Amino acid sequence: MLKLEALSVFYGGIHALRGIDMEVPDGKIITLIGANGAGKSTMLNSIVGLVKPASGTITWDGGDITRGDPRDIVSRGLVLIPEGRHVFPNLTVDENLTLGAYSRNDKAGIKKDRERCFELFPRLKERIHQHAGTLSGGEQQMLAVARGLMSSPKILMLDEPSLGLAPLVSKMIFDIIQEINKNGTTILLIEQNAHAALEISDYAYVLETGIITMQNTGAVLLKDDNIRKAYLGEGQ
Ligand SMILES: Nc1ncnc2c1ncn2[C@@H]1O[C@H](COP(=O)(O)OP(=O)(O)OP(=O)(O)O)[C@@H](O)[C@H]1O
Ligand SMILES: [Mg+2]
Repeated sequence: MLKLEALSVFYGGIHALRGIDMEVPDGKIITLIGANGAGKSTMLNSIVGLVKPASGTITWDGGDITRGDPRDIVSRGLVLIPEGRHVFPNLTVDENLTLGAYSRNDKAGIKKDRERCFELFPRLKERIHQHAGTLSGGEQQMLAVARGLMSSPKILMLDEPSLGLAPLVSKMIFDIIQEINKNGTTILLIEQNAHAALEISDYAYVLETGIITMQNTGAVLLKDDNIRKAYLGEGQ
């Protein structure tokens, strides 16, 4: 279980997270929705040690990881696929995947995960020697997810994986997130596409200017009038 308690983050004078309490139980899909600038990316960056909170605690498997070293946090199985498609454009698909496994030395496990990536993303297999920078936007997002999987995550955190993707590709990414979860990986998802995200979520949190204003199961939030108006584009 990943747990955030009273987490507070400042950027200079900007109070970006104002006392966040959140739980991500093992094996679940947990979603965070919120408008631009609400603090969603700040939260994920704090979990992986890229942003240092001013106060509050982050615990993982009962151990305190607040303000930890990002490399150490990755090696404990918390993996972030950041906003935007961060692939290495001048490296091939194959080389990008190899880099995803840089912190591991279990050769057999790496080989197995590589095969699993190609099962999940046959398109990447067809393009194994292609430079990542020449892949389409959707293919680059697939590669970003696949590279995250190569580090054998216990929790996979995805910051807006469907941003800018065509509906069919976006649906495929959501299907794959569910598939990854069924294979035992916990998911913490940030999404602008609130409808698709809530549909696959066990539980979801709504973040507004640094504060959690609502939380419930995905199914309940999908039916909530305020959520429908604010995040699902209905009744406007
Ligand atoms: N490095 C930084 N320095 C100063 N302010 C920052 C920094 N990073 C984020 N902020 C500010 O903190 C607030 C939260 O930003 P954050 O990126 O976490 O929002 P977000 O919910 O991920 O938004 P989006 O949906 O647009 O990605 C914003 O007001 C942003 O301008
Ligand atoms: Mg963001």
